[in-house]
Amino acid sequence: MSVKEITAEHIEELEVLAAKYPVRRSALLPMLHYVQSVQGMVSPKGIQTCATVLDLTPAEVAAVATFYTMFKRFPMGKHHIGVCINTLCALLGGDDLWKELTETLGIGHDETTSDSMFTIERIECQAACTVAPVMTVNWEFMDSMDPAKLKELIEKLKTGAPVQSTRGTLITSISDSERLLAGFNDGKVNDSPDADDSMLAGLRVAKERNMTAPIGKGVR
Ligand code: FES
Repeated sequence: MSVKEITAEHIEELEVLAAKYPVRRSALLPMLHYVQSVQGMVSPKGIQTCATVLDLTPAEVAAVATFYTMFKRFPMGKHHIGVCINTLCALLGGDDLWKELTETLGIGHDETTSDSMFTIERIECQAACTVAPVMTVNWEFMDSMDPAKLKELIEKLKTGAPVQSTRGTLITSISDSERLLAGFNDGKVNDSPDADDSMLAGLRVAKERNMTAPIGKGVR
């Protein structure tokens, strides 16, 4: 798969990101997301470009890019699919989801299908355990999944049929999600609800029972 070149226009957008922060190097994580939105990965050229814009060494940028698993050093497919493999999701069906996904697509962790449509990843807890087992598509939530729903989801993505996150947002591509993560507004901020009833259940019970958390030592 050929990796898209970073052009002068892209460097202008990287400069926009760097200018948002009082200390320019604070823009590095958003800039790496931006590079990934353009290239589908963080390539050595992408690392060099970020270093030049921020007046850092390539080694300093590479140290950050290689620390976080969200930044890939191989080209991702159009869609990134994550399956939470942490305890609660795993017990409630996450392991079955992962098995179904790998068998359906014929690839494993951090691998991409030969048609460049899908990259899959075993991911850690997404803080959405109330709706386990959880998957993500381009980092949008797919809550309370099961193997049948997963199969249907893959078919829709393959054919380009519209797919919505179970929380409302229309799924487009990992490239669009990376651009959003970089800090460029996609105008969809109101497409998803803040929290559903299951997420607020604990808070409701605590209020009903007048429960309070102990004050930590040294907290006034
Ligand atoms: S264990 Fe999967 S979202 Fe928490």
